Amino acid sequence: MPSSSNQFADEGSASVPMKNQCEIETLHEMIQQVAGFYNWSRNYWIELASLPDGTTSGMLNFGLWQEDTTTLFDAQENLRREVFRHLPALASGAAGLEIGCGIGGAAVRLAKERDVHLTCLDLVAEQLELGRSLADRHGLGAQIDFTLGSSMSMPFDDSSFDFSYCIESSFHYPDNQAFLRENQRVLKPGATTLIADITCSDNSRVGFRRGNHYRSVTDMTAAMLTAGFTDVGVTRIGDRVFKPLQAFAEAFGHGRRDKLQKYWRLVLRNYEKLWEEGVMGYDIFVGRK
Ligand SMILES: C[S@@+](CC[C@H](N)C(=O)[O-])C[C@H]1O[C@@H](n2cnc3c(N)ncnc32)[C@H](O)[C@@H]1O
Repeated sequence: MPSSSNQFADEGSASVPMKNQCEIETLHEMIQQVAGFYNWSRNYWIELASLPDGTTSGMLNFGLWQEDTTTLFDAQENLRREVFRHLPALASGAAGLEIGCGIGGAAVRLAKERDVHLTCLDLVAEQLELGRSLADRHGLGAQIDFTLGSSMSMPFDDSSFDFSYCIESSFHYPDNQAFLRENQRVLKPGATTLIADITCSDNSRVGFRRGNHYRSVTDMTAAMLTAGFTDVGVTRIGDRVFKPLQAFAEAFGHGRRDKLQKYWRLVLRNYEKLWEEGVMGYDIFVGRK
């Protein structure tokens, strides 16, 4: 989910200068911004991805929309399955790392399906609290750990994990190379990483871009190779993301006049247009250490 400040009314015009990639925010500023954004908008996405009976997905992403997908809840489950389709066979008890785990929904579902131990890393304490309580409610507290920290400086030893995945989070990271270097460092030799994210070949066209650092497919692929990943591959799924999500969110917000609704309508319309023009995409990157 792309971020901006919660003073969205001050942003959005093409005249807002993009933060220079070199002026990487300090850790404190970054936490403040990311936490502020999610504490402002999390409930909107939780509601958007809930079923009519109140069941929540535990995920905060755009989802993957098939012909017959009618809810964001199902779309997010489709995306999760599409990402994990790229996981190789794993030994019993394999150690996995989720980077930018949000509120834990993807980890809980994976832990139910596979005999794995998961460590979930996120920059925002409130996301981790929600993730922990979700895991506990599902009786998975011992199978999933939640750790506060940054993807660009991970609090884990070298060669700790058998696989890692990162769903719709890497666009937040001001230093993509640091993230990939760290991701590589904490994986065991031969381990797989899966990175699903929004991609963009021209960030100047993104209406609300403060705190968002989209990369093109070419740049992301090159950065993964530079970090030492091999067998890098890409699956392009943007045709099943932007248009149906925008239509769903528009219908959901029909009649609502709040700031969140207004903000997301503008953001998603902008993204759909950029996707139509071939500037924006949604991609799943796979690499091996
Ligand atoms: C759009 S949400 C996606 C959450 C989850 N992966 C999902 O699909 O439901 C992005 C998450 O990345 C986290 N995040 C942003 N910057 C981060 C960083 N530098 N290190 C770790 N997590 C970060 C945010 O706090 C947020 O929980």
